[in-house]
Amino acid sequence: MTTRSIAAVVLAAGKGTRMKSDLPKVLHPLAGRPMVGHLLATVDQLEPERTVVVVGHGMEAVSAAVGDRSIAVQEPQRGTGHAVMQARAALDGFEGDVLVLYGDTPLLTQATLEAMVEARNAHPDTAVVVLGMRPDDPGEYGRLVLGADGMLDAIVEFKDADESVRALDLCNSGVMAIDAARLFPLLDQVTDDNAKGEYYLTDIVGLARRDGLRCAVVEADVDELMGVNSRVDLAAAEAAVQERMRREAMLAGATLTDPGSVWFCHDTTIGRDVIIGPNVVFGPGVTIGDRVEIRPFCHIEGATVAAGATVGPFARLRPGAAVGEDAHIGNFVEIKKATVEQGAKVNHLTYIGDARVGAKANIGAGTITCNYDGFNKAHTDIGAGAFIGSNSALVAPVAIGAGAVIGAGSVITRDVEADALAVTRAETRAVAGWAAKNRARKAKPGKTK
Ligand code: UD1
Ligand code: CA
Repeated sequence: MTTRSIAAVVLAAGKGTRMKSDLPKVLHPLAGRPMVGHLLATVDQLEPERTVVVVGHGMEAVSAAVGDRSIAVQEPQRGTGHAVMQARAALDGFEGDVLVLYGDTPLLTQATLEAMVEARNAHPDTAVVVLGMRPDDPGEYGRLVLGADGMLDAIVEFKDADESVRALDLCNSGVMAIDAARLFPLLDQVTDDNAKGEYYLTDIVGLARRDGLRCAVVEADVDELMGVNSRVDLAAAEAAVQERMRREAMLAGATLTDPGSVWFCHDTTIGRDVIIGPNVVFGPGVTIGDRVEIRPFCHIEGATVAAGATVGPFARLRPGAAVGEDAHIGNFVEIKKATVEQGAKVNHLTYIGDARVGAKANIGAGTITCNYDGFNKAHTDIGAGAFIGSNSALVAPVAIGAGAVIGAGSVITRDVEADALAVTRAETRAVAGWAAKNRARKAKPGKTK
């Protein structure tokens, strides 16, 4: 492939009126990451020399979300050509190919961008390569007009098109690869003399042809060119992103019993021979080791689960949860900011927060670490091999020594030394015959039973 440099210009100045949102459109998340972040991550794979994001509406928030990329401000917004013009200073001195992308078209793939760059480099006189698509309903997309030689002659905007052009089914996705040396000389000739009174980027195609330059079309599947204009589109884009991630997880060696009900985050990392049951939701920052089983109905975020562990059904791992190798986290268990070490078992109805559970410790059903006194959080340390009886409350800060046993129903407020037994419940008192006498007393006279 080419050794020419690449620069990316991402248009993200539009208002996104149809989102009906205070959040700029390109910041609406897909799989937990702003949609423009998805696009930028794809662009990064091409290792561009420069990336410029053109911002306008909501520019503070959008600028803050795009990291250390260059920002060009477009104010007011006078069309896609005008938007690219704002990147002139940021592209000063750049030699190579410029990719123009839309911040609200996040599903684009690396392979498609590479095909665009390759087509741009196929001939030195190719000024512009346009990414085309054939949607079932071409609607109001700009139409790509091909010449007799199969080359691209012009892009005609729907509002400016006559019936014969509107009948064409090859549409402009908006993505272009442009020779940097030709870009601004062409843009300088663009006017706003059209139906919308805007500076159309699309006009550079006709202008290039007039100068005797070549323009070409690369076609891509309409699925990856879907633009997000409304919350309905957002949900469809989310579905597409999830679909890709499920596929990737399965191809990487995870079993998803019911793929459609597993929801990943963009940064979810899954090992090999992992089994994920139905209805599992991953928030940000999750790493799952090899041979882990996540049983149905778990919610996991900001957590790591080491090799061979089992989680769920119905478990919640919150930020800072670290489940060790071969540990068991069972049903209705919540773990927050706590380490559960190798082979430990927390199997039922338990809250473990701000804590360490030592290796092979066994936490009985209904155990609670009382980590919060209404003002401060405090730590609970449970030593290796400790046995915490059911329905115990461990009032932090507190440490249970290795191998210690806590009697069921205890409320532990002081440290317990290793291998000790601690019980805080009242003694059991049994009164012989009391129940039978009580029944006799309560029985109504005359009734036999
Ligand atoms: C544009 C194309 C059309 C194509 C369609 C694909 C032009 C003139 N038309 O039309 O051929 O079929 O996209 O979706 O290019 N933007 C700015 N500043 C502006 C205007 C737009 O940053 O002044 C950004 C928007 O935020 C958006 C993108 O550019 O991300 C496209 O703008 P939009 O107004 O949606 O273009 P269309 O009219 O749909
Ligand atoms: Ca649009």
